Amino acid sequence: MGIALIVHGGAGAIEDHAVAPHREGARRAAQIGWQILTHGGSALDAVEAAVIAMEDDPAFDAGVGSFLNCEGQVELDASLTDGRTLDAGAVAGVQRVRNPIVLARRVLESEHTFLIARGAEQFAQEKGIALIDNAELRTPEQIEIWKQCRANPPAPRSAQSIPIRGYGTVGCVAVDRAGNVAAGTSTGGMKFKRVGRVGDSPLIGAGVYADNALGGASATGWGEAITRVVLAKFAVDALANDRDPRAVARAAIEHLARRVGGTGGIILADARGRIGFAFNTPRMARASIVEGMGEVEADC
Ligand code: GLY
Repeated sequence: MGIALIVHGGAGAIEDHAVAPHREGARRAAQIGWQILTHGGSALDAVEAAVIAMEDDPAFDAGVGSFLNCEGQVELDASLTDGRTLDAGAVAGVQRVRNPIVLARRVLESEHTFLIARGAEQFAQEKGIALIDNAELRTPEQIEIWKQCRANPPAPRSAQSIPIRGYGTVGCVAVDRAGNVAAGTSTGGMKFKRVGRVGDSPLIGAGVYADNALGGASATGWGEAITRVVLAKFAVDALANDRDPRAVARAAIEHLARRVGGTGGIILADARGRIGFAFNTPRMARASIVEGMGEVEADC
């Protein structure tokens, strides 16, 4: 059994100019999480820190720099799961929190598992998390993309119009020295999404799952399809009988495509500290490191 950490920075048709920022942002996030694990920190702390790093990086569709909804606002979703206790925390439709993964952590530590919108923001205030103006989350690049979408709205997503152009959701799975597994996911959701639309990312079992008995997973891609097959739980369950996480990740994405025509990606770590990933989109940003490796490997 060894410590391990893997992150993703979204799966999709990541354009050439965005490849280096995605790859290097994923690398930095993995390095931050790895520092925590190597100093004896918990998987939960490592996942939270890695996801914060990507929420703060405008390259990704999470936190600052997220896609705007059709009304020009950022609406954020995030989730965090603790494989030791099966505790889970999630938030959705949050507009005034800089780091929704931090809020998801507070929810995980509370009697609740899922808070949304205004209620989640009230809870944030009660927990001492500052509320910010939504404008602080909107970058000039995303405002420009939103204006283009308003002039020429994207086609609705369906199995017929394979949605590979949305990308940038972030996630992390980690295994710590005590053998605890944690997973987290954070997103701004689809470009120009309907107000109130929620994808897979904050749904426990769909966009995220962890169980010390097996491992953990974080998904990215077309949220409606990922939700329909409850992809993260599907993949974690498939780690049973010591199956190789690389083969399990491939099988999970094949299942997503075959059953619901879904596109996206998944990262996995099993309880032994082995990792795997797969995607059926043109690209997926990811970075990983396991015990014995000299440094983080990143690609996109
Ligand atoms: N996978 C992120 C979303 O669909 O919102």
